[in-house]
Amino acid sequence: MSDDPKAPPMEAMFQLLTARWVTSAVSTAARLGIADLLESGPRSTQELAAAAKVKEAPLYRLLRACSSVGVFHEQEGRVFSQTPMSQLLSKDVAGSLRNYALMMNDEWHLRCWGELPWCVETGTPASFKVYDQPLFEYLTKHPDDAVNFNNAMTDLSMGDGPAITAAYDFSKFEQIADLGGGMGGLLAAILEKNPKLKGTLVDLPYVIEQARTSPMLAPFAARCSFDGASFFDTVPAADAYIMKYIIHDWDDTKAAQILTNCRKAIRAGGKLLVVDRVVGPRRYARGCAGAFRSATRRTIHRRSAAGELLYLGNLPRPLACAAEARDHGARDGGSARQIRPADPSA
Ligand SMILES: C[S@@+](CC[C@H](N)C(=O)[O-])C[C@H]1O[C@@H](n2cnc3c(N)ncnc32)[C@H](O)[C@@H]1O
Repeated sequence: MSDDPKAPPMEAMFQLLTARWVTSAVSTAARLGIADLLESGPRSTQELAAAAKVKEAPLYRLLRACSSVGVFHEQEGRVFSQTPMSQLLSKDVAGSLRNYALMMNDEWHLRCWGELPWCVETGTPASFKVYDQPLFEYLTKHPDDAVNFNNAMTDLSMGDGPAITAAYDFSKFEQIADLGGGMGGLLAAILEKNPKLKGTLVDLPYVIEQARTSPMLAPFAARCSFDGASFFDTVPAADAYIMKYIIHDWDDTKAAQILTNCRKAIRAGGKLLVVDRVVGPRRYARGCAGAFRSATRRTIHRRSAAGELLYLGNLPRPLACAAEARDHGARDGGSARQIRPADPSA
């Protein structure tokens, strides 16, 4: 995709319209594990095809397409090597987006995005059209999709965690609960930076089952507990609650239910920390094209505007701009004291 602001409109528009091809190609390369196969150095498509158990000719075309957008580098003789971008498709590298790339081609994801016109028409998340139920209900019943979704969320948390722990001092708390904390990537980052803090990971039972066996929270076993429950029923007592990418998932009534449960359980002087993308009008204008163009960038701000469409596509609540966030805080019986930016490069 061109970053050139002076690209002729037809060229720029064509790039936008074919962006789905790029996503699909990159996701397919991630599924075939090509980046991992290239970790030890350049390899020919013949070797790669044998290792990935696919045909050489179409693999060559796939990798040639990927390399045209900086994912892999093509050398003489149908040989490919790793680039800084393709490295992010490797399994075990810092900042890996492999799981996120895999989710992009998952059937539920593709089908839900295909219903965007219906979402705009009705204002209803696509999972209702495609599966006749809320997304998280669908995921509860489809473990393979759920594992991919949870791992994709973990990819994001591994990048967001350092930005959040750099932006906020958690050391003043004794006990923090991460509500809807997924596999525990954010909680692990918080506990690592704050050696006296105890943490509870709260999520739906099937997610907690997966999180218990993940190595992420293992180093903090002595300070960490798990709570497989719905935050609509109850939340554990704590003096801090953190919710990352949670409130925007729910309509106002449901969001208020979560906040009310926090209000009931929170210890005196406690704090509720909501981590979300805040969309401002100017950022929206810039971010829209930027975010479509920057599927592989970890810049939270640039993701904002395209993210907002994702919530229209899959989830009920649009992202708030700063003023709206303050209003929501007040309406839900609390007061939004501070909105603090987190630097994604931290
Ligand atoms: C968008 S993901 C965010 C995950 C994590 N906070 C992050 O930022 O990576 C939403 C999370 O909310 C969880 N969730 C959905 N419904 C829930 C419920 N009723 N009670 C607890 N967690 C729930 C999902 O399982 C999922 O892990």
